[in-house]
Amino acid sequence: MSAGAILVTGGAGFIGANFVLDWLANEGSPVVNLDQLTYAGNPANLAAAAKDARHVFVKGDVGDRALVGGLLREHRPQAIVHFAAESHVDRSIHGPAEFIQTNVIGTFSLLEEARGYWSGLAGTERGGFRFLHVSTDEVYGSLNGADPAFTETSPYAPNSPYAASKAAADHLVRAYHHTYGLPAITTNCSNNYGPFQFPEKLIPLMIVNALAGKPLPVYGDGLNVRDWLYVADHCAAVRLALRKGRPGETYNIGGRAERTNLEVVRAVCAALDELRPDRAPHAKLIRFVKDRPGHDRRYAMDPRKIEAELGWRPRHGFESALRKTVEWYLDHMDWVNGVTSGAYRDWTELNYGQGGRA
Ligand code: NAD
Ligand code: TYD
Repeated sequence: MSAGAILVTGGAGFIGANFVLDWLANEGSPVVNLDQLTYAGNPANLAAAAKDARHVFVKGDVGDRALVGGLLREHRPQAIVHFAAESHVDRSIHGPAEFIQTNVIGTFSLLEEARGYWSGLAGTERGGFRFLHVSTDEVYGSLNGADPAFTETSPYAPNSPYAASKAAADHLVRAYHHTYGLPAITTNCSNNYGPFQFPEKLIPLMIVNALAGKPLPVYGDGLNVRDWLYVADHCAAVRLALRKGRPGETYNIGGRAERTNLEVVRAVCAALDELRPDRAPHAKLIRFVKDRPGHDRRYAMDPRKIEAELGWRPRHGFESALRKTVEWYLDHMDWVNGVTSGAYRDWTELNYGQGGRA
């Protein structure tokens, strides 16, 4: 890739915002950031880039073809990095329609506009263009305890509406490369954690609830396993895949940090016990609640391809990065209070309150 602008979608969300800030800190080129600002998108995540002239924020839908086509013609990006999605499994169980709209139809629209734009490029601009689609390990379904980790050739077997919508998007990206030659790359990553993650996902929810003295809801027996990756390591992997990844390829990204949910929640509590000893032990707030329907038992990623081909390695260990994450939330209570808005409370009530899991 040369030094042109990039178009990032979903850059006001958790990983997208971390990526935009990381890009501006590490690369010279401008970022056009297209985000619809759903409940999960938060301009406060981008406060550090507010005065950076290289960052252009555009509020809008990835499915708005006129808008996307106009942005591509105006900014002539060298790459599109597609993060925008509905991303929460529990929400996809309560209301799958938005997941189909944004993750499937939105990705299709973006691919169509990208194809039209790329077809009109010539020379090095055309040769250097990349469409990078950010996806998840959940497209591969669920592992049992002794199964080997997912590789890039594992069969797709999505189990939740979220996972199915991401799988559909992955298939469209694959088809656009295979049929039209669009230089697309897909990265499938394991569970992320770190700054700016919306407190509906496990780790920030546990931190925010524990600080408020509220119950820490653990689904089922708490022995479901996820493979955790610090968000900065994911951002570094995406930047590497953009620069060195081969079009048409997919790359699995994971932290080699499998933990049961109970281990994760206890680690959050242990960090809080140290940092807020007056409230210790926080683990007394743990409550086992009704399981998530269709709850995948275990995810694990085999990252050997991206390690061998692109030289990527996670730089953060789970325990130290988790502690750093807990510290970040403690240091940013203004951000926490900002996101625990009315809409968020309505969701909490639906998922955990009357008629919900608790
Ligand atoms: P998020 O929910 O925090 O953020 C999603 C962002 O997309 C928000 O800013 C939202 O406003 C925006 N958005 C939603 N619909 C849009 C639309 N129609 N048009 C434009 N913008 C829209 O999600 P995240 O956790 O940052 O995940 C980002 C991407 O990474 C997603 O594609 C997700 O599937 C993938 N992923 C996430 C994880 C994880 O652990 N969070 C792991 C692997 C892959
Ligand atoms: P989550 O953060 O929603 O990510 P995903 O479902 O995409 O892996 O959940 C991570 C794990 O934590 C998952 O096994 C479900 C579990 N979980 C709980 O036990 N309690 C909770 O309140 C939440 C949100 C998740």
